[in-house]
Amino acid sequence: MAHNIAIIVGSLRKDSLNRRVARSICSFAGDILDCGIVEIGDLPLYNQDLDTDPPEQWTRFRQTIAAADGVLFCSPEYNRGIPGVLKNAIDVGSRPYGQSVFDKKPGAIVTASPGSIGGFGANHQIRQAAVFLNMPIMQQPEAYFGHVSDDSFDESGCLKDGPLKDLVMVIAGSFANWVDMIHTSRRLLAEDSAHAAKQREHA
Ligand SMILES: Cc1cc2nc3c(=O)[nH]c(=O)nc-3n(C[C@H](O)[C@H](O)[C@H](O)COP(=O)(O)O)c2cc1C
Repeated sequence: MAHNIAIIVGSLRKDSLNRRVARSICSFAGDILDCGIVEIGDLPLYNQDLDTDPPEQWTRFRQTIAAADGVLFCSPEYNRGIPGVLKNAIDVGSRPYGQSVFDKKPGAIVTASPGSIGGFGANHQIRQAAVFLNMPIMQQPEAYFGHVSDDSFDESGCLKDGPLKDLVMVIAGSFANWVDMIHTSRRLLAEDSAHAAKQREHA
């Protein structure tokens, strides 16, 4: 069964390269990943004062992430770091304290840029936040897509055949396995401890 994946795109641009990479992943990996892009452009800026009466956009976002089996970040790099809109979404999902919807959620990070280092700086800032948020993030393959341009995509907005498309397919497959492994291990551990608890009851 395909895993339900929430994709968070760190660009609001209509013709975003990262949004098109995200769409390509949805289109190529439909049999293993049931992906949906979660919109973040309407999220009011995080303000702790609003935690007691949160805006409905925050609630909608938090519920969508909470219901997902995994989270895929697809983002550009802005000034060698995370775009503000993405940082805001991460902050919104991480609160109120103790109720983060990212906790224990398997994730992966893809960054795409026309530049040659493929958003490495943003990629690792997202990773840094994910470590703090207790997200098991896929380690390999890493995904820093450099030299991405409008030319990388066909008229339907999907990646053209070539090395980048091949790499995206590998990443999608690895992420599906990663999400599967995390959820399967958790289920087996839960079954083990339930079994051990029953044995203690009957001892
Ligand atoms: C405010 C701003 C800062 C940027 N900083 C970087 C950067 O640090 N590294 C980089 O590779 N590209 C940088 N770029 C170029 C983006 O990678 C490029 O605009 C890209 O197309 C944005 O992603 P998108 O197409 O998904 O919107 C920057 C662009 C903007 C608008």
